[in-house]
Amino acid sequence: MKILGTGSALPSLTVTNDMLSEFLDTNHEWIFTRTGIAQRRIISEESLIELAVSACKKALENANVEAKDIDFILCSNVVNNYVTPGLGCIIQGKLGAKCPCIDLNSACSGFIYALDVADTYLSLGKAKNILIICADELSKIVDWQMRDTSVLFGDGAGALVVTQGKNLKSMHLATTSAVEPLYYQRKLEYNPYNKHEEFKPLVMNGKDVYKMAVNSSIQDISIVMQEAQVTPKEISFYLLHQANVRIMETIREFLGEKEEKFPKNIHKYGNTSSASIPILLDEMNKEGQLKDGDLLVMSAFGAGFSSGACVVEWGRFN
Ligand code: ACO
Repeated sequence: MKILGTGSALPSLTVTNDMLSEFLDTNHEWIFTRTGIAQRRIISEESLIELAVSACKKALENANVEAKDIDFILCSNVVNNYVTPGLGCIIQGKLGAKCPCIDLNSACSGFIYALDVADTYLSLGKAKNILIICADELSKIVDWQMRDTSVLFGDGAGALVVTQGKNLKSMHLATTSAVEPLYYQRKLEYNPYNKHEEFKPLVMNGKDVYKMAVNSSIQDISIVMQEAQVTPKEISFYLLHQANVRIMETIREFLGEKEEKFPKNIHKYGNTSSASIPILLDEMNKEGQLKDGDLLVMSAFGAGFSSGACVVEWGRFN
């Protein structure tokens, strides 16, 4: 696999911490010092579908690939207005692509899982150009009266076009079933035969998530660096799931690496679930921060509990 192009799209509405403190018992200082989030983008006027399509169009343009030449779409999504059809199918039609589509839900780790599926399809020769789109609106599953969860998330979409190549140096995925630390139970239609109605807005045990996130990320990163036979000083950037600066700092300290190798945009966008790494990658690509040959570690964790990491070489022309 190699990455040919990137794109991203964010909602127009910026919600600052001060805006949240107008209706929640919270304040900028509490949120910023514990999470690194100063503001987030929240869907108001636009739809998640529009954002996802916009991110895909930008990625296709950046890759110089036409929608008709995409032969597989992988969509990482936890929540959107449709339970069915899959978001990928809706996006495919709006792009004018004709390929098969799969939605996958590995929560905030979904981007890494999608990359692994894409690499497998490309390696087997089952596809030549794959569009990965990660799009989520967690603003629709948090309870906006709960200060412990609603302050953490933002909405957004990030896309990649990938093709056959040798730039994926190593990949590791891990899942340990653990529902309680982080879950959302949606409300379903009334069924006269089944009286077990259970639904809950997003529930998080922050301390458990914190520990699992740090432990799994450190383990995943160590494994992929060992498999790729690279040392920390050969890595140009570590692109970590933008969930919380304190989690990122703990991982950085463990690796003994410099701060400038850990790009961040969580202060602007909050936690955008599986879209967070693709959005960050797109920003770095557009700002010219990436050079051919740069080795990137990408690492994410999410509900499940799922996690994954990989080492990828940046470079479109080799
Ligand atoms: N504003 C003010 N006070 C708050 C807020 C808020 N937004 N949220 C919680 N508090 C209060 C709590 O009620 C508690 O009050 P109490 O002591 O009177 O009961 C107090 O702050 C301390 O709460 P703690 O949970 O101990 O705070 P902690 O320092 O652990 O920070 C946090 C909480 C930021 C959630 C932390 O546990 C954390 O970073 N966890 C990781 C969670 C995470 O990053 N999730 C990302 C999403 S999941 C994903 O991406 C896969």
